[in-house]
Amino acid sequence: MLSLYIHIPFCVKNCPYCSFSVVQNPSDEMMQTYLERLHNEIDEWWNVFWKVEIRTIYFGWGTPNLIWAEEIKKLIHHCEDVFDCENVGELSFECNPFPQNQVYEFVSELQKSFKKYPRVRFSFGIQSLDNWVLENAWRPYTFPWMVDFLRGLRDLKLENSVYNFDFMAFGVFNQTKKWDLQLWTPSALEFFHDFVNSWFADSFSLYMLELFDHQKWKKNSNWNSIHSGKNWIFWNEDEIYEEFDVLKNIVQEWWYKRYEISNFAAVGKSSIHNRVYREMEDYLWLWLSASSFINSKNQYFWDVLKYLKQEDVSPYSKKQWIRWTNTPYYPKYIWNEKISESAIQLMSELDYLIESFFLSLRTDRWINDISKFEAVLVKDYSEKIKLYETNGFLKLYENGFVLTDEWMDCYNGIITELLMKI
Ligand SMILES: C[S@@+](CC[C@H](N)C(=O)[O-])C[C@H]1O[C@@H](n2cnc3c(N)ncnc32)[C@H](O)[C@@H]1O
Ligand code: SF4
Repeated sequence: MLSLYIHIPFCVKNCPYCSFSVVQNPSDEMMQTYLERLHNEIDEWWNVFWKVEIRTIYFGWGTPNLIWAEEIKKLIHHCEDVFDCENVGELSFECNPFPQNQVYEFVSELQKSFKKYPRVRFSFGIQSLDNWVLENAWRPYTFPWMVDFLRGLRDLKLENSVYNFDFMAFGVFNQTKKWDLQLWTPSALEFFHDFVNSWFADSFSLYMLELFDHQKWKKNSNWNSIHSGKNWIFWNEDEIYEEFDVLKNIVQEWWYKRYEISNFAAVGKSSIHNRVYREMEDYLWLWLSASSFINSKNQYFWDVLKYLKQEDVSPYSKKQWIRWTNTPYYPKYIWNEKISESAIQLMSELDYLIESFFLSLRTDRWINDISKFEAVLVKDYSEKIKLYETNGFLKLYENGFVLTDEWMDCYNGIITELLMKI
């Protein structure tokens, strides 16, 4: 079984904090070329994945709702021709809520057209309800606008739709706020409370701002700061965590269960697509820079190797996984030099165990048989685990454990302590 991930790398604006590389305000011509190329890429996989069963289809990365719903429908129908989509469990779209009417149209049309799928999921990037943060993060709306947007969304929802809302803890403070951290305005916070409590949302993603060196909001030496238009914004990790913790507590108070570090869902509404990725099932990811992942136990593994022009198959055995990444260079992609030799990575069982251990600890999925990971754990791992239990970092079960909610946020430290340095 395979899942599909389709990149839509376009956005109206390139938000300064965003870690995703996107093209801002693309021309119609560019979008047209993009769509044609994407259809070609789906066709190229015809021979390899002909009628392979698909578990989930995900449109993400940038702003899928910048593409007309009709064009998205054509892409999905094309996938239905090539793959076996009879048992697709979830069809997902990331959405920027702006502009309102265009988003409503996008959501209504796709929900209606794919009623046959058990779940059509939309994830809306709200980010914040604080007007000052929204302005400086270059989001094109305000808190009152968002209230109106969310009210309108209520009338659209169908039985098989699942609505997720992304919020970010920016932890920012600024000169106009006189160095005082105040999480949103009291009315915005109250609205968030009421919104969560109304149970209209099926799930929430709460992210803590993460910045990498290449980003436009750069870190400088003493303060993490940015001059965004007319203001200086400062932040630090404690304040980001503080804001995250306030939002997290509200969401958990109303019974949204944390199923991953950043994800909280009502019963039965967690994202299937995320599970595929975290549980290291197979996925095919289309477009620039996209990475795909395949297990050698699946029947199409050898066809994938042929497609990747791996003529010498001797290094490949039955217990291996392969990951390959498309070029980030648009001209190469267009000229069909999509994957270079160096972008093909053969994963050994040890690599697989490390990654699987790492990904499991990010979720509420238990490590249910710790001995499975022995080959990559430090020698005294069982003593360490017992000590962590005594300190309340994790809960022990018969042969395994799960991190407690508070310590899920510190999983990096725990992983580093338990994994053998290789
Ligand atoms: C790929 S974006 C798509 C959302 C949509 N384009 C929008 O902006 O409304 C998915 C989510 O990643 C989160 N995100 C983006 N940049 C981030 C960063 N630097 N740190 C943490 N989360 C980030 C945002 O919450 C965003 O909604
Ligand atoms: S946050 Fe969303 S809209 Fe902004 S650049 Fe990132 S993907 Fe695009």
